Amino acid sequence: MRITVIGTGYLGAVHAAGMAELGHDVLGVDVDADKIESLSRGHAPFFEPGFPELLRNNIAAGRLKFSTSLKEAAEFGDVHFICVGTPQRPGSTAADMKYVDAVIEGLVPNLNRASLIVGKSTVPVGTAARLSTMVAGLAPVGAKVEVAWNPEFLREGFAVNDTLHPDRLVVGVTSAEADDTLREVYRTILEAGTPYISTDVATAELVKVSANAFLATKISFINAISEICEAVGADIMPLAAALGHDARIGNRFLSPGLGFGGGCLPKDIRAFLARAEELGIEESLTFLRNVDSINVNRRQRAVNLARDMLGGSLENKRIAVLGAAFKPNSDDVRDSPALCVANALQSQGANVRVHDPEAVENARASYPGLNYTTEVDKAFEGAQLTVHLTEWQEYRQLDLAHLSTLVTSPCILDARNTLDIDHWRAAGWTVRAMGRPTR
Ligand code: UDX
Repeated sequence: MRITVIGTGYLGAVHAAGMAELGHDVLGVDVDADKIESLSRGHAPFFEPGFPELLRNNIAAGRLKFSTSLKEAAEFGDVHFICVGTPQRPGSTAADMKYVDAVIEGLVPNLNRASLIVGKSTVPVGTAARLSTMVAGLAPVGAKVEVAWNPEFLREGFAVNDTLHPDRLVVGVTSAEADDTLREVYRTILEAGTPYISTDVATAELVKVSANAFLATKISFINAISEICEAVGADIMPLAAALGHDARIGNRFLSPGLGFGGGCLPKDIRAFLARAEELGIEESLTFLRNVDSINVNRRQRAVNLARDMLGGSLENKRIAVLGAAFKPNSDDVRDSPALCVANALQSQGANVRVHDPEAVENARASYPGLNYTTEVDKAFEGAQLTVHLTEWQEYRQLDLAHLSTLVTSPCILDARNTLDIDHWRAAGWTVRAMGRPTR
């Protein structure tokens, strides 16, 4: 099939390469000429394990090309996936739809044959219906252009696997033809037995925001319990493990710590609530406000713990910060809890040095006032406190005896609860961990 993927960020670029891997002819389109230039040369513009190989293999096979032109996209494809961002609107909690609308305005007047537009971006419920009205007014071929919705559930860091081997496929369609087209697009994946849920467009849009709201709620739930643990000297780790053994609860997304960040969960729950307000039914979703505030409070809690560990003041204290990305295996720093904490420590007088294996460049662009290093030893040199804020695997394998010779004071705050704290304590470190008893 001839497919275009419009918007080549973390989601779209991987989707484009994934569709080519399934054997389709794919054109990836973006307004960012530098990104298109880089992708065309087979260079991934962001860190995503497995993506560079997928990109290069499919370019080499002649199935994957890139362009900045929506006119070219209209000529090239029969199915057009929209993968542009829907960030939080400035000064509001609602989603900003300007990039999605711009794609429709740029693409649809150039469509001169029957085409299917498939939204993948996370959007307020009702968007597909609104876009259908826009399309009807803009398309030279009128009703032959249909809008469907096919939400994307991929996780950064696992994007390639999640694209080629998803847990489920969800499509929202308004005709049997659109359903047939999408079954054909995903034929290889469906043949592997992947569940396929075909529904109306509003339901498909809601599946995505509901999934993210549920995941965010699960994380904030365990973090709320973690606060109770701290207050009474109980331990959140065995508690979470015990809950997770109940198959009805499950242990995934039940890791307590610094909470969620990234380009999706925080803004998606806010946009969901904003949409419910527009619909006059915010009562049903007010718990999401708590989910958000529990999450944001984790960051303040980490700063407070760091200050306590430093004897009540951050002024002129050297702090080693481990991690800048919003989660490991990603260079994405959008709404990163780690950077938020690092910045708060610095703005309260500390002198932080932030280490991250992949995200330093992006972090520097967002918070140019912080000091960065890509050498972990440099972060530790002279540190009076170390704070572990993004749980990269390499932080679990540090040589503690060696680090003890670098720091001024062997003190660490594990805000992600993934370090072996007994091991650190045995190596002579003072350790605090969020939701865990002090010793
Ligand atoms: C998320 C959804 O998982 C994905 O389905 C959707 O398509 C986009 O949003 P992503 O943003 O890549 O994906 O990150 P995810 O792996 O879900 O993690 C989100 C945040 O939650 C991270 O900051 C992570 O550190 C945090 N998290 C996750 C926890 O704090 N505890 C957990 O138990 C799990």
